[in-house]
Amino acid sequence: MKTQWYKNAVVYQIYPFSFMDSNNDGWGDIEGIISKLDYIKDLGVTAIWFSPLYKSPDYDYGYDISDYRDIDEKFGTMADFDRLLDECHKRDLKVIMDMVINHTSIEHPWFKKALESPDSPYRDYYIIRKGRRKGNKLLPPSNWDSSFTGSAWERIGETDEFYLHLFCVEQADLNWENPAVRKKIIDILNFWMDKGVDGFRFDVFNMFSKVYPIQDDHQRNTFQKGAQYYVDGPRMHEFLQELNEKALSLHDSYTVGESFRPSEKEAHEYVKEENHELDTIFNFAHLDSDNIGGKKFFWKPFDLLQFKKGLIKPQTDYYKDAWNTLVLENHDNPRCVNRFSIDTEHYRYEAATMLATITYMGFGIPFIYMGQEIGFVNTDFSSIDEMKDPVSHFVYDLMRSYGMPEKLAFNFIKYGARDHSRVPMPWDDSVNGSFNRGHETWQCVNQAYQDINVKKDLNSNRSIYRYYQKLLAIKKTNKAAIYGKTREFDHGNKKIIAYSREYENTTLFVIGNFSKKSVKYVLPEWIRHGEIILNNYDELKKDGVNIVLKPYQAMVLEINKVD
Ligand code: NOJ
Repeated sequence: MKTQWYKNAVVYQIYPFSFMDSNNDGWGDIEGIISKLDYIKDLGVTAIWFSPLYKSPDYDYGYDISDYRDIDEKFGTMADFDRLLDECHKRDLKVIMDMVINHTSIEHPWFKKALESPDSPYRDYYIIRKGRRKGNKLLPPSNWDSSFTGSAWERIGETDEFYLHLFCVEQADLNWENPAVRKKIIDILNFWMDKGVDGFRFDVFNMFSKVYPIQDDHQRNTFQKGAQYYVDGPRMHEFLQELNEKALSLHDSYTVGESFRPSEKEAHEYVKEENHELDTIFNFAHLDSDNIGGKKFFWKPFDLLQFKKGLIKPQTDYYKDAWNTLVLENHDNPRCVNRFSIDTEHYRYEAATMLATITYMGFGIPFIYMGQEIGFVNTDFSSIDEMKDPVSHFVYDLMRSYGMPEKLAFNFIKYGARDHSRVPMPWDDSVNGSFNRGHETWQCVNQAYQDINVKKDLNSNRSIYRYYQKLLAIKKTNKAAIYGKTREFDHGNKKIIAYSREYENTTLFVIGNFSKKSVKYVLPEWIRHGEIILNNYDELKKDGVNIVLKPYQAMVLEINKVD
């Protein structure tokens, strides 16, 4: 029986490599996570999503899994995981596991066996095709691009065959057409849920189904060649329904899907309750409001109207028949206080709290990325060599191969790099921010830890963590904040975001100033006598019918109708 516990959940994401290193070997670990569970619980979250903890050779830092049923040694053992699960549950924290099932590592035994012999049944676990001969050249089976630059096909040794990889070369795409593959995946999901895991985050799920036969993409100006044949493919709904029927619905689970540029129509179909597919998907459209066409590294001036549309549209689209998620950061994005044209140097507290208020008071489940709750900032990387993420390197190399000067290429990468969110968590101002006891860390430490860290934030009278506590307490208990219908106001306003959430007799009005200057705003008449239930400044300045919102000021007003 599904209780739909997720509807008033608040999820905290941990990237295990960088959360807490208990044995001082440079890598975060499960023991370290356990030691910080009270800190997470006190924030007011109700569930934790763990980025992959499984065995992996780490070409894509955990997103290339070589054993779905075991924990990677650097993080601990299965016994440690069982204790983690238990310790989370003791604190009423649900556990959400990352599931990367579009592809496996090329070190997964399935892939190794597939390559052992042309007759191996495991060959059909992957998408392997003959290349095309052109003169004495052997070309890939199609012109598809990988999401991480270059061809999506890799030649198998000296043979004339290639395997498909929509991400790194070391991440081979699974063949979901093969029922044996789907059966294995269903068994893996049930294995974790039988252990007591409460849900999953499906990695790039809308690439499971591809269009066959494989063919060239002749469309011009596509984001990525081939995408029309491997995004939102023809059997997507059927595959998700099968996972739902044979695994997800058999437990009181929650699943959130991470998708790659889905069409709006398909996105809605994935989450419609009546379709029995996923409970929610992530919506990232607002996070593309400071880059060109969704290409993270290509900075453009922040467009608040685009941000508002991206944030609000799924809330109104999904309101009647589905549930939603609310995201500001994750392990694939830079820190939010360094985006959206924010003046972080002068207004870090105000901006961090404003962004959280206007995002999480919306319709959907708040997802908070580790460190976001103290307003942690981007790292001042000094060269590409300090970056670990393969994608930073692939794109940098590509830019350089087109002749872009070193400094310019590095500046683009530095703007959008995933590395910013992947550095060690700053716990205090001791060595390495007390992520560990001084051993060299797998990824460089962000030196800002000396000034921005958990200990300092908690002791400050302008603590971002404490503001999050107040915000989340409202989010979890106020019915209008959970179930209310969202209605946007003044969409055309280029400085302010404003919307209401209405449920039964209660209406909330949420407002935030994206500017570093004070801005006047005429409150709608019906909310003028509302009670301020949250405000990131001590006061609210009024000027006749206007309110004056200070730089990055945000608040929530509440009004109750009397019957
Ligand atoms: C999405 C994940 O969030 C990202 O970190 C990963 O690199 C790709 N999927 C490939 O698994």
